[in-house]
Amino acid sequence: MKITSCFVLLSFASLACAQGLRPSRKPLVDSDSLRRTIKGSNLLKHARKFVEFSKLSNGTRVFGSAGHTATTNYIKRVLDATGYYDTELQTFPYLFSTGTASLAANGTTFTTGYLSYAPSGDVTAPLVVVNDLGCNASDYPAAVAGGIALVLRGVCPFGEKVARAGAAGAVGTIVYNNLDGSVPGGTLGEISRPEIGPYVPAGTLSGIDGTALVALINSGTEVVGEFHVEAINEERLSSNVFATTKLGDHENVIVAGGHSDSVVAGPGINDDGSGTMGILEVALQLPKWRVNNAVRFAFWTAEEFGLIGSEYYISHLPEEERQKIALYLNFDMIASPNTAFFIYSGVNEPAGSVHIHETFEEHYVGKIKTALTPFGTGSDYRPFLDVGIPSGGLFTGAGGIMTEEQAGWWNAQAGVAYDICYHQACDGIANLNVSAWELNTRGAAHNIATYARSLEGIPRPRVSVPARTLKLADLSYEERLHQACSHEVSVV
Ligand SMILES: *[C@@H]1O[C@H](CO)[C@@H](O)[C@H](O)[C@H]1NC(C)=O
Ligand SMILES: *[C@@H]1O[C@H](CO)[C@@H](O)[C@H](O)[C@H]1NC(C)=O
Ligand SMILES: *[C@@H]1O[C@H](CO)[C@@H](O)[C@H](O)[C@H]1NC(C)=O
Ligand SMILES: *[C@@H]1O[C@H](CO)[C@@H](O)[C@H](O)[C@H]1NC(C)=O
Ligand SMILES: [Zn+2]
Repeated sequence: MKITSCFVLLSFASLACAQGLRPSRKPLVDSDSLRRTIKGSNLLKHARKFVEFSKLSNGTRVFGSAGHTATTNYIKRVLDATGYYDTELQTFPYLFSTGTASLAANGTTFTTGYLSYAPSGDVTAPLVVVNDLGCNASDYPAAVAGGIALVLRGVCPFGEKVARAGAAGAVGTIVYNNLDGSVPGGTLGEISRPEIGPYVPAGTLSGIDGTALVALINSGTEVVGEFHVEAINEERLSSNVFATTKLGDHENVIVAGGHSDSVVAGPGINDDGSGTMGILEVALQLPKWRVNNAVRFAFWTAEEFGLIGSEYYISHLPEEERQKIALYLNFDMIASPNTAFFIYSGVNEPAGSVHIHETFEEHYVGKIKTALTPFGTGSDYRPFLDVGIPSGGLFTGAGGIMTEEQAGWWNAQAGVAYDICYHQACDGIANLNVSAWELNTRGAAHNIATYARSLEGIPRPRVSVPARTLKLADLSYEERLHQACSHEVSVV
């Protein structure tokens, strides 16, 4: 049916007319035209904004920070201004934790890690060595009372050790590593463990420092530690942002997503500024056309704390609404400086996923080699796959190391991380491969345009996936922290 006037259209899509969209006069979107509108210079304009936003909260856009809220407000504002979308904020609270720890003892200041959820504190007390691994109340000698417990990592969770030390009367707990190096991203895992004991200020030391201190103490020297922990533990509100085309079939929706939050440590301009701004730019260009199938752009919050925003969305979406989502496309890190060109493999995934990865591949033919990589649990595609929604996505690599072979394919550096600034303060504009960013954003545009025209190759309606449980929903808080952006987080 060809709709020729706004008057006729009114009964179908009065809002579209009210906004002066005249969908009938728009051509149907096509991949080549949409791809041509994507320019690195426009992407960089968004990037400069995101850097400004991070400065509102000391260089981070972590969920719930001023920098993150400015990001989600910006996304909603510029998309509202097009008049082409229905936008929505999905706002909910989630627990936030960050902190720093420092230990000075024996005339030295040791490099000390913070354990998430540990309380703040400032104590000066003798260091007391805990027996075995500190997993049993009997491991804590009486001298721990009033002292700082020094306990070896392993077997039971950090949180259990810290609570047991608290129960034994310690005023602080230091867990030292069972390997030479330091403990990456340790967490107490649970907010509290009242059944064991109270949490006390806590931190971590490298195995080398910890064993040296233990040897010193065991040789009979009294070692007094000055232990300082500064922490913020609080519930914070933040939002997923959605923008859904007013046009197109809303029984067959294409969802394209990226996460709007960064880690605490930096502004997250590649992770995941690149994916967020990439789909934002596609969303800003798409209004030149009409679509056959509705497109929903999704900007997830709190991905870095364990896929919280995407999981929240899927778990609060009734099955009937899930059925309307034809497919999901994920864009998390698409401009890494030592660039890999990975496409998530749809093999062994819900039917239609192979079609999605093959469609992505079309875009790169004659431009650059791509490699398929399996989905893991490291980004917001996970909740979609878990409920049987065919999915795909692009990825230029995180903290992993570029192999010799890949370096040959991509004219890149072997033996170096794909993103040397991954989850660090230096993940700014200088960390981006802008030409790869433009190329991959055009790849996003290709799949979005292709499926906005036609869902041929994607099973519709989807055979319902009964009782396939949402794996994430079954995970504990501590297990979830393992999921975020290949974030290295340990609880034991
Ligand atoms: C701001 O960030 C710097 C380094 O990124 C850090 O040293 C400083 O403590 C932070 N300040 C606050 C108030 O968080
Ligand atoms: C704790 O103590 C009990 C009984 O003394 C013992 O059986 C168990 O192995 C200990 N557990 C750990 C982790 O040391
Ligand atoms: C303690 O201090 C002494 C004297 O400076 C030094 O030789 C020793 O290595 C230190 N030990 C530790 C574990 O810091
Ligand atoms: C940046 O991306 C381009 C593709 O647009 C690629 O040719 C180039 O090798 C990449 N740079 C690095 C350092 O990987
Ligand atoms: Zn990410």
